[in-house]
Amino acid sequence: AIRIDQIFKNETAHLEKEVTIQGWVRTRRDSKAGISFIEVNDGSCLRNLQVIADRSRPELESVVERLATGCAVQVQGVVQASPGKGQSIEVHAERIDLFGWADPAVYPLQKKRHSFEFLRTIGHLRPRTNTLGAVARIRNRLSFAVHQFFQKEGFFYVHTPIITSSDCEGAGEVFRVTTLDPAAPPAPGNPDGNVYSQDFFEKPAYLTVSGQLQAEIYALALGKVYTFGPTFRAENSNTSRHLAEFWMIEPEMAFYDLQDNLELAQSFIKYVISAVLDDCQEDLNLFARFVEPTLMETLETLVRETFQVITYTEAVEILKKSGESFDYPVEWGTDLQSEHERYLTEKKFRKPVAIIDFPRAIKPFYMRVNDDEKTVAAVDVLVPRVGEIIGGSQREERLDVLLKQMEIKAVPAEEYQWYVDLRRFGSAPHSGFGLGLERLVQFTTGLGNIREVIPFPRTPGHADF
Ligand code: 4AD
Ligand code: MG
Repeated sequence: AIRIDQIFKNETAHLEKEVTIQGWVRTRRDSKAGISFIEVNDGSCLRNLQVIADRSRPELESVVERLATGCAVQVQGVVQASPGKGQSIEVHAERIDLFGWADPAVYPLQKKRHSFEFLRTIGHLRPRTNTLGAVARIRNRLSFAVHQFFQKEGFFYVHTPIITSSDCEGAGEVFRVTTLDPAAPPAPGNPDGNVYSQDFFEKPAYLTVSGQLQAEIYALALGKVYTFGPTFRAENSNTSRHLAEFWMIEPEMAFYDLQDNLELAQSFIKYVISAVLDDCQEDLNLFARFVEPTLMETLETLVRETFQVITYTEAVEILKKSGESFDYPVEWGTDLQSEHERYLTEKKFRKPVAIIDFPRAIKPFYMRVNDDEKTVAAVDVLVPRVGEIIGGSQREERLDVLLKQMEIKAVPAEEYQWYVDLRRFGSAPHSGFGLGLERLVQFTTGLGNIREVIPFPRTPGHADF
């Protein structure tokens, strides 16, 4: 069998040739003249391939009459130029095999637009829709571009652990890992009837909130490294930008200062967005047409323009002078809210904005303290519609300052001996950042809710499949 996108990519080469395609029926329409038009989609691209079946042929008729939306089929036939509107080629069926029938009376996906809320209730079928299929292909392209970019820039891909004893961000948003206690008697009162013990690991173990601290170990040995893996946050809030499980890309570079870090972040985002603009036009057009009319303009602006760089202090001044009535007032020393981020990227600068030098008090212990002692060398990159997409910093490489920071932030130095050691033996300036893949897919597709850009969203109360 051949993938449908391969036929569309070189239509002339396939004209008059016999092909075998495999996929799922999107629609079937029967003409009075005894011809059936069957739209088949195999997930390789947005477009369906139209199959023409002559029902006067009994071996076709017996199969075609059963075909309905959702049926899995294999079609053998000859590619012909199509006289009809909407497609330039079609397949004239010689043989159709029906693998799995889908009862039209109960199959949940029909030829109409379903709401995203409804589609979330059928997570096992929603990738068969145009929108979720397009998301999956764009997500795939972005993920591959991540590796392409870092590999071409001389980075090594390192695998940081999922189970860890540290809470990198210090925000206490960790999931604790426990183990089933096989010796314990069944406990019918527990949701799954089991008893769990917490002593499998020597000390408490959690699911990672960031691979950064371990990436620092490897950066201070290999130079430039990146991690790209699942990340967990026990954030008990339901927003359109937060997941309990998401994928984070975290480069970490020895001998990089904040400026180098910022430049890398910029060329990285531009690279991955360009890859999608080059290779996923058809899927992007779907989102531009049905989801976000300004999509192409925003993506092209990001690739074309240099990011606006402002300090946190400047951002606060701009927001105070904006004359906007925000739900959350802005004061020096408070975190920026999503409404502030959107004002800066959508109204004030109309392009990505990098904010640097945040108040020391609102950022984690590992960020490098600036000379003013009030701010740290942090950088957040904000993009229109989504807000914060990247969080990063130059790391504190000075032993005495790091120890002081840990004391102020109540980070137990004995638990982080290894991290402190990196400052005792061959310490070097270094920097890195984290980019949330789902926020990037949201930005690239224009989708408003993060639950649509990951195959299986995990949010408070939801861990289906
Ligand atoms: O700003 P954050 O918390 O930074 C860190 O974790 C650093 N240790 C990264 C580093 O320097 N290596 O998270 C980084 C990015 C955010 O900007 C956002 O894109 C994403 O991760 N992110 C989330 N995405 C989805 N759901 C959540 N709950 C997220 N929390 C963070
Ligand atoms: Mg952040």
